[in-house]
Amino acid sequence: MHRMTSFLLLALALSACRPEGAKKTLPGNELYAACISCHGTDGQGQEKIAAPAIAGLPQWYVEAQLVKFRSGVRGAHPDDYEGLRMRPMSRQMMDEGEVKAVAEYVSKMAPKKQAPTAASSGGDAAAGAAAYGTCTACHGADGKGNQALNAPPIAGQYDWYLVSQLHKFKKGIRGTNPKDVTGAQMRPMSMTLADDQAIKNVVAHIATLSK
Ligand code: HEC
Ligand code: HEC
Repeated sequence: MHRMTSFLLLALALSACRPEGAKKTLPGNELYAACISCHGTDGQGQEKIAAPAIAGLPQWYVEAQLVKFRSGVRGAHPDDYEGLRMRPMSRQMMDEGEVKAVAEYVSKMAPKKQAPTAASSGGDAAAGAAAYGTCTACHGADGKGNQALNAPPIAGQYDWYLVSQLHKFKKGIRGTNPKDVTGAQMRPMSMTLADDQAIKNVVAHIATLSK
């Protein structure tokens, strides 16, 4: 049974591999073909499978997250259902140069501000703005992030993704791997949000920021 499963997995892995003998680093646009089924041709993600918008995220952040998914520093927690979905993708095909290439490609895709959904409805943006004071130190008042502090942009992202990540940090599903240095910087910040309502509030505020 187990042998059969691993055989199937091996067959899948092989079929996803580059043509035999091809050693050169594939260009970002070709590598991105493996991302389309979840993140879309335009990098805008899709709620149905909880894939976030990644278009226009800075190259350094995309690269860092791909490296984390590959090494299991992110997305390997048994309760991280969405992370477990992303993880195998990050492990397929790519070598270090290709991780860079696909990250660069993603960073050059046109970003878009996502419309609010039910995930932040009932959130009090004014209360959230007060709570967001703590976040400005790293993500900026405009939510555009700060590379020097490893803090990604969060403005423009789907509210359901932001809610889900804040829950993950709070519950220790993200940011608790001993090698997750930058996740460990974010985790205590999620703790400043007392409950689900506080998370909704701050996300409702982030949804007011322009991309
Ligand atoms: C099978 C679906 C799937 C495929 C294919 C996929 N991803 Fe993902 N990706 C996800 C999901 C789901 C998440 C959210 C994980 C979470 O909730 O923590 C994610 C998260 C990410 C993140 C983190 C974004 C952030 O703001 O932290 C990056 C970067 C990313 N994916 C890039 C890629 C790239 C590049 C590819 C192609 C090489 C790819 N993904 C292929 C499903 C997928
Ligand atoms: C001390 C700096 C710091 C502060 C303050 C901070 N963050 Fe973060 N945040 C980070 C870092 C660093 C990351 C990236 C973690 C990683 O590399 O996985 C992050 C990641 C995130 C993410 C995940 C983004 C994504 O694309 O997956 C969200 C959402 C977030 N922060 C929201 C907040 C909110 C809301 C606050 C205020 C309550 C806050 N942060 C305060 C440093 C900070």
